[in-house]
Amino acid sequence: MLDPSCGDGQFLALHRNSVGIEQNPVSAHRAIERAPGALVHEGDFFTWAFETHERFECAAGNPPFIRYQTFKGETRRRALDLCLDLGVRFSGLTSSWAPFLVATAGLLKCGGRMAFVVPAEIGHAPYAAPLLDYLVAHFAKVQVVAVRNKLFPTLSEDCWLLYTEGFGGQTDTIDLTVVDDFLPARTMPMPTTKIDVDEWRNTWNRRLRPYLLPASVRRIYADALDDARTFRLADFASVGIGYISGDNDFFHLRPSEAKRLGIPAAFLQPAVRNGRAMPEKQITKATVEGWRRNDDPVLLLRLTRDQELPTVVKNYLDSSAGHAARQGYKCRNRAPWYAVPDVQIPDFVLSYMSGRRANLVRNSAGVSCTNSVHAIRVRNRPLAAELLPRWSTPFVRLSCELEGHALGGGMLKLEPREAGRIAFPSAGSFGKTGEEELEDAIGTLQRWRHYAD
Ligand SMILES: C[S@@+](CC[C@H](N)C(=O)[O-])C[C@H]1O[C@@H](n2cnc3c(N)ncnc32)[C@H](O)[C@@H]1O
Repeated sequence: MLDPSCGDGQFLALHRNSVGIEQNPVSAHRAIERAPGALVHEGDFFTWAFETHERFECAAGNPPFIRYQTFKGETRRRALDLCLDLGVRFSGLTSSWAPFLVATAGLLKCGGRMAFVVPAEIGHAPYAAPLLDYLVAHFAKVQVVAVRNKLFPTLSEDCWLLYTEGFGGQTDTIDLTVVDDFLPARTMPMPTTKIDVDEWRNTWNRRLRPYLLPASVRRIYADALDDARTFRLADFASVGIGYISGDNDFFHLRPSEAKRLGIPAAFLQPAVRNGRAMPEKQITKATVEGWRRNDDPVLLLRLTRDQELPTVVKNYLDSSAGHAARQGYKCRNRAPWYAVPDVQIPDFVLSYMSGRRANLVRNSAGVSCTNSVHAIRVRNRPLAAELLPRWSTPFVRLSCELEGHALGGGMLKLEPREAGRIAFPSAGSFGKTGEEELEDAIGTLQRWRHYAD
């Protein structure tokens, strides 16, 4: 048995004939003590995998979950090159565990099997799709066990389990077992759903998360997607991020501060700074008045490149706060440092991270927004006028849950690309039973993201 990232040897110790690789010397040493019968190599797994001629009957372990921001340099290059040799192209946004599993599979003997702890991201992350594509093309059986409650209660990460067998074969289904809690057992649990790989690819954008829902709900949703009168948000609007000021505290003034400094209104643009500042349905003149009355820091200092600046503004830019702000990364890398680019007036503002539900708010007051929320610009007004009023219907709310992803701490996150996929069906209603099923499904996905535990 191979454990490609054996840590202190928990898995190695339970097997009579095992090989472990571990980069951290202290952990590698502990593994040698814990599993004296095992062969432990200290070093980078990908370097070792590239050179070794050994092949294994099975592999097991808990690969490192290193996000792309920190999974960098030589190790990442080696990992991605090795996967390319095995026919898998991962983007630079991949987390380390996915290349670990592909490179491990490449070291199995024909008929070999693997069992790994994986992050629940396997259910939605774009980089998990090439991994699953590889697994179904190289194993006779691929099984995922989705575990709702934390496998490791002390870790923030939700973990699922992956089991594959029959290396050298292939399959057109993924077995999914959905459980609330992980219960140790000698055999794999029975699958609760057999996922058709074509359907997973074509209907569900290569995500496993929709399969946490009952088949009847998936059918309602898939039938609506098939209807030519159903549109995605991106079909009639563009979803972009708001401006990046480079120093929100410096560039957003409170009304009292602007008054004290004497900055003319022409240089001040009211803006939504974050999701918390968004009202329920609409940003109106009264909303902005409320922000002003509360003396909220909502006035963006909006300066353009070739503009003549009054002395009061120059003085503010020259203040100690201004000198600190211009040292920031964004300000240092633009000219002039004080001109915040891409300040737009969107038609709607959409929350980026949400608790109970994603909030879409009409911008009737001509405010701008930071990149803490999404800026929606409508391209097809008649279609938007017809479909956006359906935002609060169970179908569209379920669509937000399905297209978005869990962020941890119960939050739902919608990246711009995900928000663009939110679906609006032509029929507003699915009958009483259908609506109830959709509501139940929303509750289910909220529980999976630990919002309504
Ligand atoms: C989540 S831990 C798993 C440890 C062990 N399997 C267990 O469950 O206790 C991941 C391990 O991968 C190791 N690691 C990270 N990058 C590595 C690499 N490129 N090559 C080998 N090991 C690596 C880390 O040092 C860490 O010990």
